[in-house]
Amino acid sequence: MAEGAASAASVSMWDRVTTWYADNKVVAWTIAGVTVVAAGGTVYFLSRPPPSAADSTAKGKKDRRKGKKNEEKAAAEEVKPESKPAAATAPAPKAAAVEEQADELPEVTEETVGQLSEQERKDFAAKLKAAGNKAYGSKAYNRAIDLYTQAILCKADPVFYSNRAACWNAMSNWPKVIEDTTAAINLDNEYVKALNRRANAYEQEERYSEALLDYTASCIIDQFRNESSAQSVERLLKKVAETKAKAILDGKDKRLPSPTFVSNYLQSFRTRSLPEGLGEMVDLEEGSGKWYMRKGLQAIQNRTAEGYAEAAQSFDKAIEVGQLEQHEALAYNMRGTFRYLKGDNDSALADLNKSLELDPSLVQSYVKRASMHLEQSKREEAANDFELATQHNPNDPDIFYHRAQLHFILSEFSSAATDYQKSIDLDPKFIFSHIQLGVTQYKMGSIASSMATFRRCIKNFGDKSDVYNYYGELLLDQQKYQEAVEKFETAVEMERKTVGERGGGMNVLPLINKALALFQWKQDFSAAEELCQKALIIDPECDIAVATMAQLLLQQGKVTEALKYFERAAELSRTEGEIVNALSYAEATRTQLEVQEKYPQLASRLQGMGGGAGAGMAAPGVR
Ligand SMILES: *[C@@H]1O[C@H](CO)[C@@H](O)[C@H](O)[C@H]1NC(C)=O
Ligand SMILES: *[C@@H]1O[C@H](CO)[C@@H](O)[C@H](O)[C@H]1NC(C)=O
Ligand SMILES: *[C@@H]1O[C@H](CO)[C@@H](O)[C@H](O)[C@H]1NC(C)=O
Ligand SMILES: *[C@@H]1O[C@H](CO)[C@@H](O)[C@H](O)[C@H]1NC(C)=O
Repeated sequence: MAEGAASAASVSMWDRVTTWYADNKVVAWTIAGVTVVAAGGTVYFLSRPPPSAADSTAKGKKDRRKGKKNEEKAAAEEVKPESKPAAATAPAPKAAAVEEQADELPEVTEETVGQLSEQERKDFAAKLKAAGNKAYGSKAYNRAIDLYTQAILCKADPVFYSNRAACWNAMSNWPKVIEDTTAAINLDNEYVKALNRRANAYEQEERYSEALLDYTASCIIDQFRNESSAQSVERLLKKVAETKAKAILDGKDKRLPSPTFVSNYLQSFRTRSLPEGLGEMVDLEEGSGKWYMRKGLQAIQNRTAEGYAEAAQSFDKAIEVGQLEQHEALAYNMRGTFRYLKGDNDSALADLNKSLELDPSLVQSYVKRASMHLEQSKREEAANDFELATQHNPNDPDIFYHRAQLHFILSEFSSAATDYQKSIDLDPKFIFSHIQLGVTQYKMGSIASSMATFRRCIKNFGDKSDVYNYYGELLLDQQKYQEAVEKFETAVEMERKTVGERGGGMNVLPLINKALALFQWKQDFSAAEELCQKALIIDPECDIAVATMAQLLLQQGKVTEALKYFERAAELSRTEGEIVNALSYAEATRTQLEVQEKYPQLASRLQGMGGGAGAGMAAPGVR
């Protein structure tokens, strides 16, 4: 979420939603660590479990279930392409020796194989395979391929296919690796070695989704014992998400985020009345640049998606028409602001530069440019902008409020508190300085001062929903559920009242917070879902509501529905990081579904491991 958003408490909202599993000691198995841990009889999938625990529990189970079958397979498969040293120590066969052996070998073709008895086929297959392994060991890959091919003619054995794939693998012929491992897997769909080999080939071919699916299946079959495969799942999850995020970003038409987001950003600056010359009493020619400026500034007040869209259009138009005189710098500031909100950062930055060129005393442009720099992790540039801003106006409370946000994000809480206080001293009427001061005190461990700050806030700003919303968040953090829920309810009430009086859009964050609180407190899924749905009716594009909904569904094992919401969250996200985040969840969920479809027997095994809370999903970890 944008660092420029009204409150750093809301900044962390997205984080809270997405790290929610960790907080609740439940993690989707594909997401983070992909390792199974047993805790008190229930198996959980944790992000970073102690490896010893993972080992002992998973192994015990596995040995009982599959030990025998795997031993047989290990015996059957002698080729170990992964272990290069073994191949190196094998004496390099002399040409004569190879020929001599070849003489003893049967020569099988498609024509002759039909004339062989069953016993002959079996014997020939074993001989050909042994010779193939020898050839492989001495890196005579083409010869080995020929021998395995003949062996396969005699007997369609998954090991023969997998061994031939190992030859193709050594020759980096990835399409052939895929072909042969697929044949092997078709004959034995729990053939881990073939799955891993195919996954690697898919990855080489940049078919990341398919690689991810194979590594995931291999991990489940192997009961998450193989650390390297688990790491591959993580690596591919990231690759798939990043590739898809790029595609989304490239194809994305730049549009405004949800009104909740826009309102939060805009209200982080003190409201100002219409500048002189643009006031409602002033007669402006319809369609003139200044007329568009006024129209845009008024439309912002509606706090609705339509209002914000109209504002963005009006500022574009104002600059196009021109003749703005002393309002030109503000016009560039506003157009830049909306371009930034649309995620069009370069042109937004250019607009703010132009605004400052026209009027270096418009300090809000420095502050906004600082917040853009901050979002791109350019801290020095951000600090420099604050410095320039204070040079032009050392008494602008907005500067200190936003500089405090910078400190807050960098966890420099004491400097943040100083700047919030300074902003309050310059203008005590701006509610967010007080709220943020309270949040900062909380972060510094001064719980009592923080709570006192919030109680004072209620006294002074008792009709504002934001006070109750953020107070509630801190109470929720202290697991004071009852009080937190009460605060969120009051916030919703206040928001309704304000909207009733003012008209326009409603801030849905208190509804989502209440949903989270009810989930954490009582595991009340249906109430939580209902609240999220309410929020989505009010603000259908609210990415936080969508992401929360997705997590709630996933927790209940409603994987298909969760996937839809994760994909929607990715669509609605504004920055690349947020899109990747949402997509990682989406891809993990999608892979889980695909594994269930392709390997029904594995799905039920996972369910068994997960205590029956859904496919691959542990029951909610109750605190
Ligand atoms: C673990 O998996 C990797 C592929 O992901 C494979 O190369 C390696 O041989 C496996 N290790 C064991 C001990 O099975
Ligand atoms: C904003 O709201 C006012 C009154 O509530 C309405 O007259 C106006 O058309 C709205 N403008 C936009 C852009 O929604
Ligand atoms: C805007 O100005 C900053 C600071 O002067 C500079 O670093 C940046 O390159 C400029 N950006 C654009 C798009 O003009
Ligand atoms: C916008 O900024 C983000 C970092 O926040 C960066 O990854 C992205 O490439 C930028 N987009 C454009 C169009 O410059």
